[in-house]
This record gives sequence, structure tokens and C-alpha cells, in this order.
Amino acid sequence: MSEYCVSAPGKVILFGEHFVVEGVPAIASAIGLRVRACVTTEVGGDRVIVESNVFGKAEVYPAKPPSWASQFRRIIELFGERFGEIVAAKITIESSLPVGAGLGSSAASAVAFTAAYGLAYGIRLPLPEVSQLAFEAEKLVHGKPSGIDNTISCYGGTILYTRGRGFEHLDVNLPQTVKLVIADSGIQRSTKQAVSLVLARKRKLGKLGDMIYDVARELVHKAIDALRRADIELLGELMDVNHGLLNAMGVSLPELETLVHRARRAGAYGAKITGAGLGGTIIALVDDDRVDNVVRSLSEVAAKVFITSINGPGLKYG
Ligand code: PMV
Repeated sequence: MSEYCVSAPGKVILFGEHFVVEGVPAIASAIGLRVRACVTTEVGGDRVIVESNVFGKAEVYPAKPPSWASQFRRIIELFGERFGEIVAAKITIESSLPVGAGLGSSAASAVAFTAAYGLAYGIRLPLPEVSQLAFEAEKLVHGKPSGIDNTISCYGGTILYTRGRGFEHLDVNLPQTVKLVIADSGIQRSTKQAVSLVLARKRKLGKLGDMIYDVARELVHKAIDALRRADIELLGELMDVNHGLLNAMGVSLPELETLVHRARRAGAYGAKITGAGLGGTIIALVDDDRVDNVVRSLSEVAAKVFITSINGPGLKYG
């Protein structure tokens, strides 16, 4: 078999992170930063080898893999259970996503790996199966993942996700000139720690906490409408409000405040934490003609800055 390649996107949460844990819908979107996986079966023996541009090279089967590759090992085992054999392969993974920054790099890697490894069996697995296998692998990395990351990486576009109720696609009509600028604070954070901090504050606030969650729910409804109508100015303001709510729940940091304020001052429509907070990344919605300005300002303080777009395609073959 000659080499075949697939790719899968990372994601951002545009609205509703944390509130989603308690049943508020969240909006997530596929971004232009992707993970590419290429597979060949010409490896000899019964081994599966993974070579990653981020982590290096490792035998994942039958040897015990290093921890970064344990999610791939899980997927290989699930293929073995489903097809009754394990096909030898070498899979090369190239990711343009930062790791552990809330951009869904592990899910995108799992999705790309699953689809690529399927090709070693001579099949294109149906998307729901790819998503399910990647979800199983995500459980090893995240413990109790919500399922947003593998879903959006498989299907692409923009989704409304409600815990326990799955997801629906959202209509998004933003012009090509609108870009998403992502700034990585470089501060490592734990999603688990951030989630428990927010839940503890909600409990402590009682009725006030419930009211903040009601505001978050109303905000998501307004954002769905703004995405459909391409009301970019309103979307930007809603991002600012969403950031304010996350700040109120305790997951901002001075470094993250600096980033969002820099983005806004440099001309973004709006800016907010994306994902868990307490570090990680912020996102800003920016028009083409202001991107340079925003990137320049963020680059002075961020560990890394990316220019991309939302509502990108999901899993792609080729
Ligand atoms: O791990 P991150 O940064 O993508 O954040 C996860 C989003 C939360 O809403 C904070 C947690 C969750 O499980 O939905």
C-alpha cells in the first residue's frame, strides 16, 4: 500500500464553556489549524509505529507505548476487537495545533489517526464510527470528556452542543474577511481544576450563580442568531460579555485579561478566553484590515499567536 493521508481540524469554543457542564448549550467551531495523518502498511512485521512532529517516534503496538501515544494504542485495540486482527502500519502525524491549550489537539489527532488507520484496513470508516473511536481515546486523555472535541473535529462546521443531548449544526454566514486570531498565553492549565473551581463558585453563589448561568444561556441564543445573520459587531460584543461571565466565575488571570484587552484595543470586534481558562488561549474576532495590528499587539506578550478562521471543514481524505 502506498501512502495515504487524512486531516482533521482543531476547535474553539465560541460561547458557553463551563456553563455547558451544567446544561447550558455551548457553541464550538472547527478552525483552520489541523492535524494531518499519513499511513503506510509497508512496515514489515506486526508493528504499529507512530511518528509525531510534536512528540517523536514510538512503537505503539505490540510494545507498550509512551504516555503521549496511549490514546493511539487504545484505538488500535478497538480496531483489533472490531476486525479480529491488527494490521501493521506506520502513521505519521503532523500537527499545527498547540498541545494542552484548549484547541482540541488530542481529539484532532485521535480523529486523524482513526481515519488513517482505517485506510490500513482498506476502508473509510463512517464518520459516526470515527467520532466514537476518537471519543474512546479521548477518555484516556481527559477522563470525562464532553464529546465536543471529537464531534467537531469529525464533522467540522459549527455546532451547538448540549450535554446529554448531543449536537446540532448551526448555520454560519460570516464573510471571508473575518478572521479568528488565537493567542496562547503559554500558561499550562488543568481543565479539571478549572471546572471544579467554577462549580464550587456556582454552589457558593446560590441564586446569584443560577442567574449568571441564565445569562449565559440567553447569550448563547443571541449568538446563534448573530452567527446566522452575520452580525459581526454583535458577535464581538457577545464574546466580550461571555468573557466577563467567565471572569466572574473565576477562570481569568491577569495575563489573559492583558491579552483580551490588547486584542480589543488593537481593533478586534471582541475577545474572550476559549475553553477552560486559568491559562491556555484567548480568541479574538478580527476583520482582515486589523489583523496585523491585533497580531502585533498580542505577539508582544503571548507565547504564540495564530491567524485562522472558524466554521472550517471536518475530517478530510487526501
Ligand atoms: O479543555 P478545554 O480548554 O477545551 O475546555 C473544556 C471546556 C469546559 O467547558 C471548561 C469543560 C467541558 O468539559 O466542557
